Amino acid sequence: MSQSSLPEGLHRDTLAVRAAAERSQYGENSEALYLTSGYVQPSAQSSADRFAGDEDGFTYGRYGNPTVASFEQRLAAMEGAPACISTASGMSAILMMCMGLLKAGDHVICSHSMFGSTIKLIGTDLAKFGVESTFVSQTDTAAWKAAVKPNTRLLFAETPTNPLTDVCDIQALADIAHNAGALLAVDNCFATPVLQRPMAMGADIVMHSGTKYLDGQGRVMAGALCASEELVTKTFLPVLKSSGMTLAPFNAWVVLKGLETLELRMQAQSAKALELARWLSGHGMVNKVFYPGLASHAQHELAMAQQSGLGGAVLSFEVKASGADQARARAFHVLDSLKVLSLCTNLGDTKTLCTHPASTSHGRLTEDQRQTAGVTQGLVRVAVGLEHPQDVQADIDRGLSTIA
Ligand SMILES: Cc1ncc(COP(=O)(O)O)c(C=O)c1O
Repeated sequence: MSQSSLPEGLHRDTLAVRAAAERSQYGENSEALYLTSGYVQPSAQSSADRFAGDEDGFTYGRYGNPTVASFEQRLAAMEGAPACISTASGMSAILMMCMGLLKAGDHVICSHSMFGSTIKLIGTDLAKFGVESTFVSQTDTAAWKAAVKPNTRLLFAETPTNPLTDVCDIQALADIAHNAGALLAVDNCFATPVLQRPMAMGADIVMHSGTKYLDGQGRVMAGALCASEELVTKTFLPVLKSSGMTLAPFNAWVVLKGLETLELRMQAQSAKALELARWLSGHGMVNKVFYPGLASHAQHELAMAQQSGLGGAVLSFEVKASGADQARARAFHVLDSLKVLSLCTNLGDTKTLCTHPASTSHGRLTEDQRQTAGVTQGLVRVAVGLEHPQDVQADIDRGLSTIA
């Protein structure tokens, strides 16, 4: 393979289509897909050196693959990160980060309005292995600071959060983490490097669910951690090698190609989400709209400064109702009335996806955890795709305007 040697200082949209575009001897213009689980070694000595990490070269599919490496290098370039390591899903990226950085007795601080599975993984599953955690208010920087303990090793923030789009101050959290001798990791799944580059604001690790916008068309699962060369090669790679959370080459190829259109999609989908958020805000059956692009959003100014002036493509709204039972029935009515949009618990697709977070993404939490996170029974999340805004509005209005 010939190594692509690009000039320094290229812009992100150029890197999205040009970075890590390795070519084989055939000179293919579109990146090749290398489906192989093993690699033939030139000699026994080379094989030994490669397994020992003393010589470059692929050895075994669990450890690395050229297509997977291209995805990692391109994502790192777009995040402005020195290195990247990919995994089979977003959750396995979080697990790899925690297994690499934490041991029994260490302490993690997260927000209590993070993605439901993240709360479960850190608060319940890792607790079984002696990792302590404290969950604080996403937007209360003083609460993050007050939660720091001598054994705090990691602050993990997701901004904007799923599903309420709460935004936290990355720079402020990086300062708190570093003053405590800890690291800051940011889940950049909602914003993507198009809107927000957390490492430029002081974060040490950027985590991605490639399943979402990086793929962008709802096809494959993928995950990644962007970080320093040292963290990637010395802390995370050994976990990958022994745990096998490896990203499949085909999935890597899909997300690699997805990165090429990420900028266009994020801009178009953010614009359509803003239009929908404005329309929902004026709807008589809507109690509240959660979207960072709206001036009414509690962290609107911070979001605009931190996210390149864009709100992203996910919003949530609460239907008007009295009591949790009525709220749930009304939210279900809106979802069951859809004829164009998908009732689907995913996000980051070109198709608009609608879901009821309280019974799906946050369904495994206790009622107490859900209430603290603000995930009410009347909440509907919309991950806005590329359909015409009038068709999206008409489909949501089908249910909203017929609530009994
Ligand atoms: C913010 C956020 N982080 C992480 C994940 C987990 O990603 P995956 O489903 O790829 O494991 C999700 C999935 O919805 C998510 O929304």
